[in-house]
Amino acid sequence: MSTRTAQQNALAIHAALKAAAWAPSVHNTQPWTFAVSGEEVSVRADANRKLRFSDPEGRQQLISCGAALFNLTTALRCHGYEPVVRVLPDPDRPALLATVRLGEGSTPDEHTAALNAEIEQRRTHRAAFTDLPVPDRLVETLIQQAAAEGARLTPVREPEAIRVIASLTHAAQNAQSQNRLLALEVIRWARPPGSARTDGVPADAYPAEHVLIHPPFAQRDYAWRHDWGTTAGQAASTSTGVVALLTTPGDTRQEWIAAGQALQRVLLHASAYGVSAAFHTQALETNHLREFLREELCFGEYPQMIMRLGITFDTKGAVRRPLSDVVESASLP
Ligand SMILES: Cc1cc2nc3c(=O)[nH]c(=O)nc-3n(C[C@H](O)[C@H](O)[C@H](O)COP(=O)(O)O)c2cc1C
Repeated sequence: MSTRTAQQNALAIHAALKAAAWAPSVHNTQPWTFAVSGEEVSVRADANRKLRFSDPEGRQQLISCGAALFNLTTALRCHGYEPVVRVLPDPDRPALLATVRLGEGSTPDEHTAALNAEIEQRRTHRAAFTDLPVPDRLVETLIQQAAAEGARLTPVREPEAIRVIASLTHAAQNAQSQNRLLALEVIRWARPPGSARTDGVPADAYPAEHVLIHPPFAQRDYAWRHDWGTTAGQAASTSTGVVALLTTPGDTRQEWIAAGQALQRVLLHASAYGVSAAFHTQALETNHLREFLREELCFGEYPQMIMRLGITFDTKGAVRRPLSDVVESASLP
């Protein structure tokens, strides 16, 4: 039992919900809801925010929700709690992804505080990186961060393997742009410049021009025939960065949530050292390309995320829904 006052509990839960809402999510769908009951927070998948055509099984949705869960527990730890987490606690309620109880009081360590400080700062990058190298020692630490959450982060060093991943990304991006339903689904989550909406990918979060890096890693086409996107700060950047794959031994819903927790732990740790990530998940949305990657480059493990890690000084826009939209109103602390 926690010895904290009700007001301290409410403050910690409020901060944790705010932190959860800053998680990365596929196309910034923010596909989650939260409910608070006493000292317990429930994390749920919002079926209305699942990508019907590109993510029919909800794999990317659960990765996104896993990232939110990681932010939630990190913020609680930072407020002096040792949260008790149950993932998928009730098989009869598949939308209920996790319950988090406040748990005993504890003193946060420096690492938790460092991760927590990055939650609102971290941004997805969508272009080339500067030529500043990502230190090998940092990459080794990132591998350990992923392992601590039950996932494997593998840096891809061989130029031929990097070319293969870039080619698959390019092929998947081309195929998706020819498929009306898939293309419309991406457009649906592009946030036009000046829009008041609080979800979707903002136009100042990607470059106006496709930036050429070698080998070329195709970006999502959020702008679709509009001259949206930012022109700021691209000129000096030409580097691919470190290409890395995040994998899990199996492909269960539990492992998708674990992959999201691992992803967010990697991203926050990297961010604390000035390193950002760009994502290229198009090939993972096509079953046979994902299976090819699994067999050829992932030691038979299931690829959950393809990313590039690097250093950039660009600033990027970001939006999130207010807590009143994501927390069941009766339970808002
Ligand atoms: C499962 C998942 C898949 C994603 N796939 C892509 C992708 O293919 N391309 C991309 O540019 N961003 C991708 N993203 C990043 C999201 O677009 C980004 O997290 C969201 O827009 C919020 O922006 P922020 O990360 O800067 O806060 C992905 C994120 C997640 C969690």
